[in-house]
Amino acid sequence: MTVTRQDIDRARITEIGAREETAYRDRTRQSEALFDRARQSLPLGVASSFQAYDPYPLFMGDARGSRIWDADGNEYIDFDMAFGVLAAGHSHPLLAEALQRRVANGTCYTFPVEDGVALAEEIRERFGADLVRFSNSGTESTMDAVRVARGYTGREKIIKFEGGYHGHHDDVLVSIQPPRDAMGPDDSPATVPASAGIPRSRIAETVIAPFNQPHVLEAILQAHSGEIAAIIVEPVQFNIGVVPPEPGFLERVRELATEHGAVLIFDEVKTGVVLAWGGAYEHFGIKPDLFCLAKSIGGGIPIGAFGGRREVMASIETLEGTPSQRVDATRGVGTGMEKSTLSGGATRVAHLGTFNGNPLSMTAGLVTLRQILTKDAYPRLHAMADRLTAGCQAIIDEHGLPGYAINVGPKGCVMFTPERVTNYRNLVGLDSELWAASFFYLANRGILLPPGPDDQWTLSVQHTDADIDRYLEVFGDFARELTAS
Ligand SMILES: Cc1ncc(COP(=O)(O)O)c(C=O)c1O
Repeated sequence: MTVTRQDIDRARITEIGAREETAYRDRTRQSEALFDRARQSLPLGVASSFQAYDPYPLFMGDARGSRIWDADGNEYIDFDMAFGVLAAGHSHPLLAEALQRRVANGTCYTFPVEDGVALAEEIRERFGADLVRFSNSGTESTMDAVRVARGYTGREKIIKFEGGYHGHHDDVLVSIQPPRDAMGPDDSPATVPASAGIPRSRIAETVIAPFNQPHVLEAILQAHSGEIAAIIVEPVQFNIGVVPPEPGFLERVRELATEHGAVLIFDEVKTGVVLAWGGAYEHFGIKPDLFCLAKSIGGGIPIGAFGGRREVMASIETLEGTPSQRVDATRGVGTGMEKSTLSGGATRVAHLGTFNGNPLSMTAGLVTLRQILTKDAYPRLHAMADRLTAGCQAIIDEHGLPGYAINVGPKGCVMFTPERVTNYRNLVGLDSELWAASFFYLANRGILLPPGPDDQWTLSVQHTDADIDRYLEVFGDFARELTAS
């Protein structure tokens, strides 16, 4: 697909952006008032810093199906879908009914429930996994998976890809979108903290590799031979827009992890049960040792899960043999460390959490997976997403906009970059002013996208063809206005 380039009149972008932001302010007075009030109690006026954007975030009132209403009563077709949580759509009737029953009968026991067993069975089947555990978020899932990998291998370092996001725990909150002058050489990227407050000792344990560069990964693994507990990867980088793996990349990551005795962790928090019934595992046909889930598996209720191979997950029950015996037993070669001081005498990996497997989340997950995101849901989701992307691309081509439309399964976006992006290093020239103008233009006409150029739309089973048509109509109007002579 060709990437079109045209020098759009900068003054026109600025003018439309300013006009649309003013219109946004005029239509969303309640949100502004709530934001002013929120700032008295909440840093940045929000509960998670991801929710903050200029001039202020929309405060929401209600949502159903593919629709969401803000505090002023403005209606939007929701293409944000809670940062990709809602492949089931808002308050799916089957889920709403099941949760009403659940709420009336107790939402937290801290004793196991049958729905949790059934949900674990469902996840095992979808992801070809032996064992599964539940958590409460994507962050917890990746944090737990990393600990299991460290306990299992007796190694301390992990490899994370530049530009990838795996939640907000210290080990992985590094090199998310590092400043260009701090990111280091192409063949040995620096580990750059994405927050104040991360100890240097944690930063030293996370080695950064560039996405889609298997040769560099290979060299990094060689340089850290016998030290890497896990390679954690988003199969599609969905936190810098949409950056798919190049053909053969994930296959090579799989091979290299096995060769080096590192546990391969797929972070399927965004991809799982969204790209396909069996997530990225099914979509790309590559099996990690562990995978992490959250977001869409709960249909809108907080939940997380991780799971994978029996030998690795069984570390939660007991650690058998030395670390090197465990690593060698699963990869068939041997150079692992003989002894590990890492376990400090512990005989298993702790995985804990008061709310893990709570009945509300378990019922939500079970209904979402067994009754809503069933196998037959995916062809339609893919067809709608492909049509939305093709439609946006046609508009981009017709008007010579700088950028391209892209999707992987039901998730996609317009990348306002002059060149196709394959990793964070070549995500250059992002036209954030153009992106902002389009965000406010679309929002003011009832099309809600995620409030940031690094995120993407997610379609749900409750979106309709008419929703796609409306998106294309408004995006077409935007392009026409932008380029009219
Ligand atoms: C790929 C990925 N992993 C992990 C997380 C963290 O999930 P949570 O926000 O539920 O902690 C996110 C959140 O956006 C994510 O996109």
